[in-house]
Amino acid sequence: MYGVRPARPNRTAPWLLPGGKCVVASWLLRGGKCVVAAPASSRVWDDVGMTDFKRVSARVSGITESATLAVDAAAKAMRAAGAPVIIFGAGEPDFPTPAHIVEAAREACGLRKYHGYTPAGGLPELREAVAAKTLRDSRYAVQASQVLITNGGKQALYETFATLLDPGDEVLLPTPYWTTYPESIRLAGGVPVEVLTDESTGYLASVDQLDAACTDRTKLLVFVSPSNPTGAVYPPAQVEAIGRWALERGLWVVTDEIYEHLVYGDAVHSSMPVLVPELADRCVVVNGVAKTYAMTGWRVGWMIGPADVVKAATNLHSHATSNVANVSQAAALAAVSGDLVAVGQMRAAFDRRRRTMTAMLSDIEGITCPEPQGAFYCYPSVRGLLGRTLRGRVPSTSLELAAIALEEAEVAVVPGEAFGTPGYFRLSYALGDDDLAEGVQRLAKLFAEAG
Ligand SMILES: Cc1ncc(COP(=O)(O)O)c(C=O)c1O
Repeated sequence: MYGVRPARPNRTAPWLLPGGKCVVASWLLRGGKCVVAAPASSRVWDDVGMTDFKRVSARVSGITESATLAVDAAAKAMRAAGAPVIIFGAGEPDFPTPAHIVEAAREACGLRKYHGYTPAGGLPELREAVAAKTLRDSRYAVQASQVLITNGGKQALYETFATLLDPGDEVLLPTPYWTTYPESIRLAGGVPVEVLTDESTGYLASVDQLDAACTDRTKLLVFVSPSNPTGAVYPPAQVEAIGRWALERGLWVVTDEIYEHLVYGDAVHSSMPVLVPELADRCVVVNGVAKTYAMTGWRVGWMIGPADVVKAATNLHSHATSNVANVSQAAALAAVSGDLVAVGQMRAAFDRRRRTMTAMLSDIEGITCPEPQGAFYCYPSVRGLLGRTLRGRVPSTSLELAAIALEEAEVAVVPGEAFGTPGYFRLSYALGDDDLAEGVQRLAKLFAEAG
């Protein structure tokens, strides 16, 4: 039996009984024991694990650890113990933050103005600069009042879902998904509905697939291009088709544009509310400085949406965190008001590594690796290696195969289980060229032994 325990005994709350039936029942203290009773039938349940206070709420105990951060931590611990581990897990640029941004933060540290709280929504000049940057980079015209500055794109997503979703609202989630989406949707009471894609379509979801997954409970679509984990970039015509479909269906779209500047070859990033301007009233754009300016640790992101939604999200934000660190906001102001030279240099390096990694992985028997068009991840299928004998073991899942790669080759990858699609690996190419080549060679050598 599951339920949300009311704040105090004798208050009622909905409880889910074994078999899926829902009753409104009271939570009572009887003889020092916690029991649940439904007044209508005056039946008392005190069995299935509810006789004790749960130390962690049902809501939070359902959250799984971030697999990407867990792989990173395990590999770094091995490295600290002296093992020469190559880590393909990182979701962050391997470049330092550009000097002029660091200098702006240094200066802000010395100024009294940056020692206090800022308005909850963010420094007014930063909100203005984000609006100006959005016009410059995406041709999307928004007011500063439509911008909420958050602790990274992650918090922008969390606050967007919390602001838009009611319990039971369904959210369409193209899969493979970035590992944080389903958790923050569920925390907001929403129900993630996976829309499965694979390498045969370059991991792109079609309108038909989305439509088939849509029900009268669907409220929102999560859209991310370029994608983490697949590196897929939707062509403009498909972005527009999906936007028009969402508009007709009356859905909200949360479009995550955090990798907007990391696109390669012929791929272009296009912003959905620019291609479908009528969608703007039901669209939230999420973005941040982390990937474009190598600023993952500074924790500055934002959401852009209709003014009423941003106002409501700002109320939530004001109680959750007051404001983003003032000095970090000063750094972000220098970043978004400056040029895009540094990201151009990073993009050139990522592009080179992307081509090297795709070619090397494609040469490994048992691996199929589509060429990513954006972000800094390859997402190969490793299904051809499952069920085969490798150093005396027979991995049947990508999780097991990743564990063997870590133990036997000292190479850390994130298994597809973290992104809702077992049978794949995610490898970040945000690491030095030599390490990249050495790591993939180690994998090739190990997997060549698969019987
Ligand atoms: C698709 C996507 N969105 C949002 C984020 C959040 O970035 P941050 O919270 O570091 O700004 C990430 C980070 O990995 C990401 O990959």
